Amino acid sequence: MSDPSLRGRTVVVTGGAGFLGRQWVAACTGAGADVVSVDVVPPGPSTPPGVRAEQVDITDATEVADLAARLEHDGVTVDALVNNAALDAPVTAGGLERSERFETFSLDRWHQEFAVGLTGAFLCAQAFGPAMAARGRGVIVNIASDLALVAPDQGLYRVEGLADAEQPVKPVTYSVIKTGLIGLTRYLATYWGAEGVRVNALCLGGVRRDQDPGFVDRLAQRIPLGRMARPGEYGDALVFLCSDASSYMTGASLVLDGGRTVW
Ligand SMILES: NC(=O)c1ccc[n+]([C@@H]2O[C@H](COP(=O)([O-])OP(=O)(O)OC[C@H]3O[C@@H](n4cnc5c(N)ncnc54)[C@H](O)[C@@H]3O)[C@@H](O)[C@H]2O)c1
Repeated sequence: MSDPSLRGRTVVVTGGAGFLGRQWVAACTGAGADVVSVDVVPPGPSTPPGVRAEQVDITDATEVADLAARLEHDGVTVDALVNNAALDAPVTAGGLERSERFETFSLDRWHQEFAVGLTGAFLCAQAFGPAMAARGRGVIVNIASDLALVAPDQGLYRVEGLADAEQPVKPVTYSVIKTGLIGLTRYLATYWGAEGVRVNALCLGGVRRDQDPGFVDRLAQRIPLGRMARPGEYGDALVFLCSDASSYMTGASLVLDGGRTVW
């Protein structure tokens, strides 16, 4: 890296109170950035010192525009936006939560998940991108997934003893939203390329936490490195994308998946 430092830069992280959001916040503050953590949940004692926490529903255009106006009023120049917030179905010790098979997938849930994962990214890019373009520099990072590149292997989520029609599946929304973020990445990279706004995606494999051990074993077998990612293992990649170290990179997907999509 030529200069990974984010000193003097301000990074806005959506979903900053979540599992990976907290890791992005820590990585960016560790690289010297001022961070604005945006989340629908109210700021609590777990907000790291020095981090500005803003309670905003990113599906609400007015709330997002108000946030941009508030930051501008306070003299905060947003150098980087990390579109990280999502409504995902997590894999826990009990298996895949909120699994809903395609045949019966509800339209309400489709709309809710799209509102956060895609519309929220669109609204935040619309709120912060134009000022970046006007200044002639800025960065947007969209947090995608290895499942933006390949389809889910539904066998990973299998529960013994259940009939095929009852088996849990990774929801359709995840694949479509994450693939949509790659489209948004390419669109904005070309739209604002001449204005110096770089837009890239991070395609991430699953991070090990309290997932069902059977799931973890099955997934590890599909990953050339033989394991899920460790918490904190992605932070440097985000700092790279937000910093001038990636100054000649735009419209790209940086894949950190232990090699899963190579197989
Ligand atoms: N955890 C993983 O292993 C993994 C792997 C690949 C990709 N990702 C992606 O990384 C991102 C973060 O994942 P995570 O595991 O930290 O999820 P998480 O559920 O822990 O965090 C998501 C955050 O988004 C916030 N949020 C939800 N709706 C919002 C709204 N309307 N407005 C503002 N904030 C809202 C939530 O409150 C939460 O804090 C997601 O885009 C996810 O798809 C995660």
